[in-house]
Amino acid sequence: MHGVPKPRTLLTLDSLSGEQIADLLDRAERLATLAPSARRERLIGRTLATVFFEPSTRTRISFQLAARRLGMDVVDLDVGTASISKGETDSDTLRTLAAMGVDVFVVRHRRDGALAALADSLPPDVALISAGEGRSQHPTQGLLDMLTLRQAKGRDFSRLTVTITGDIRHSRVARSDLHALRRLGCGNIRLCAPPTLLPDPDEFPECQRFEDFDSAVVGADALFMLRLQRERMTEGLVPSVEHYFRDYGLNAVRLARAAPDAVVMHPGPINRGVEIADEVADGPRAAILDQVRNGVAVRMAVLEWLLGVGAG
Ligand code: NCD
Repeated sequence: MHGVPKPRTLLTLDSLSGEQIADLLDRAERLATLAPSARRERLIGRTLATVFFEPSTRTRISFQLAARRLGMDVVDLDVGTASISKGETDSDTLRTLAAMGVDVFVVRHRRDGALAALADSLPPDVALISAGEGRSQHPTQGLLDMLTLRQAKGRDFSRLTVTITGDIRHSRVARSDLHALRRLGCGNIRLCAPPTLLPDPDEFPECQRFEDFDSAVVGADALFMLRLQRERMTEGLVPSVEHYFRDYGLNAVRLARAAPDAVVMHPGPINRGVEIADEVADGPRAAILDQVRNGVAVRMAVLEWLLGVGAG
């Protein structure tokens, strides 16, 4: 990353090269192995604010822990009780917090395009990281998924077949994963969903599309499962969750059709019995909690990178 101007935002993985992504993953792995005492001064005196306009468990807590483990001060804006509920605009709220000395905002927003507008309204020395934006981007989820995949399958993604299954149409996680898989040279990407939940054909034309899950699983090295995003659907796009589980739920019988050492991933929150069966979610091929663990490391790496600290 030498010679490249210091970035101020991480809003999409599409703006990074494969080398930059690999560098961030390497940095995350190094940070994960450091003793707590060796980490906790690295960003001391800097302040992070989490501002979530949509619910979150993993992403919010993971960013907060990552920041604290690097010595940062952390504040969380409770959007429900903040002055936003009195009509203050999102950008006025963030500028107010920036005036108190916030160096980095981690923002989740339901509207696509909202984060670029917020970044433009902030002072130039204040950083902004997307914690999930509409249907379009969830860059740190994409990074932690790539780290988990790399740990399970090695660094050469060109040999891999990855099957992404579920509500791809509404999924910012799928889009960030696809951006990263493309940059890292993944050999074969399959998208599988009922026709109503596949993305438009001109989005990701390089991917193979499947409606039949049993076929999409055959020989796959990695199965990325997605939650049914019912909060983002404007109409009933699946007949029922029972039908969905029958046709698209990952159970042990289907998993047996994948490569013998296939890894199963899911960004969480999982809907047990909707997109994944208990026997798989809790079984030996599932890396779901590895993803969560890697999330803290990846977010430490992103914070250091944006704040211009350390090598890599
Ligand atoms: C995802 C999100 O909010 O985009 N969750 C997460 O951050 N791990 C996926 C989802 O909500 O299904």
